[in-house]
Amino acid sequence: MRDVAIIGVSQTKFGELWDISFRDLITKAGLEAIEDAGIGGADLEAMYIGNMSAGLFIKQEHIASLIADHAGLTPIPATRVEAACASGGLALRSGIMAIASGYHDMVLVGGVEKMTDVVDPTPAIATASDQEWEAQQGVTFPSLYAMMARRHMYEYGTTREQLAMVSVINHENAARNPKAHFPMEVTVEQVLGSSMVASPLRLLDCSPISDGASAIILCPAEKAKEYTDTPVYVKASAHASGTIALHDRKDITRIDATVHAAKKAFKTAGLEPKDIDVIEVHDCFSINGILAIEDLGFVKKGEGGLAFEEGLTRRDGEIPFNPSGGLKARGHPLGATGIAQAAEIVWQLRGEAGKRQVEGAEIGLTHNIGGTGGTAVVHILSR
Ligand code: COA
Repeated sequence: MRDVAIIGVSQTKFGELWDISFRDLITKAGLEAIEDAGIGGADLEAMYIGNMSAGLFIKQEHIASLIADHAGLTPIPATRVEAACASGGLALRSGIMAIASGYHDMVLVGGVEKMTDVVDPTPAIATASDQEWEAQQGVTFPSLYAMMARRHMYEYGTTREQLAMVSVINHENAARNPKAHFPMEVTVEQVLGSSMVASPLRLLDCSPISDGASAIILCPAEKAKEYTDTPVYVKASAHASGTIALHDRKDITRIDATVHAAKKAFKTAGLEPKDIDVIEVHDCFSINGILAIEDLGFVKKGEGGLAFEEGLTRRDGEIPFNPSGGLKARGHPLGATGIAQAAEIVWQLRGEAGKRQVEGAEIGLTHNIGGTGGTAVVHILSR
């Protein structure tokens, strides 16, 4: 296996993007990543695109070849990768494996979702849960995570205010990220006063319905310096699966797939959580910011809420968390999220993150999950 490097990254603005089509959105992200890498489209040998549900959101399937066609990249092989909200993370892993194996020397991985073109996106998102046992019984994603939050509060005494702090810290960072969907600060009081979605989760505990795209260019590590002075190296790429339905879990206060993927990633990289300088984790609802830092091993089980309350997860804290603003405030265009997380870590490691820079960051971690944890993908990247 060869070592792999990231030589180019991009992210479009996330938000409600009415004036750009699905195909133009991902093409824009791809072209910006190509430009960032200093290569030409003709250098690309393959493309992997993370997308959860173009069929339901824009009534278009077969999107990988649509994108290759629209971007003028035919006949390179173009593959769509789907693992619900982890589609982007898994597309990145697919590209990494294609380079590591020696199959390809230059790969574009991208992620895209256009969610705001449907009137009610909730049933489309719910297809990532168990249809027979969850979605058809009326369960939605906010309500699944609400059950996990309730149980965490019951088991560990996690408070409503601690959940709110996850959103407060995400929004502090998003306010410094011009590409974020909701770049404004919020207070604990505003979170607690926002409208109820699924008790105990309120509007400001939830990631939004976003449009957006992101892209990354990968090549073998030994060639990276031919293209850039600031390559970022892939230290580990780990993927695990877990039960899709919550009722099949012994414990709904932890996501086993995250625990397994994290263990594998740290072992592969020869690192421990204390070695990581910055993290981008999958906080689709505030409870999941807490579960993520526990399941990844940054704090003990049950102590995630306290870590947010004490500000350990601020940019200048012990566990710099979601400098981009996270899913909550940067936005969560499902298939794009895993790629955008890695793009953010690359900007952090290059020292190019502007007002949201985590000083001196050398090693970063991304954590992308599908559904309530049927899939988890963890990457460790280093300068
Ligand atoms: N955070 C902050 N503000 C938000 C927001 C969010 N997540 N979602 C919407 N808003 C704002 C809108 O900008 C709008 O503001 P305005 O009145 O000033 O224009 C207002 O809240 C109402 O927006 P609307 O689009 O009508 O909200 P909604 O009630 O239809 O949807 C949620 C809100 C939380 C239900 C929806 O964003 C949601 O389902 N989120 C979860 C997505 C999800 O499940 N993703 C997969 C995770 S696994």
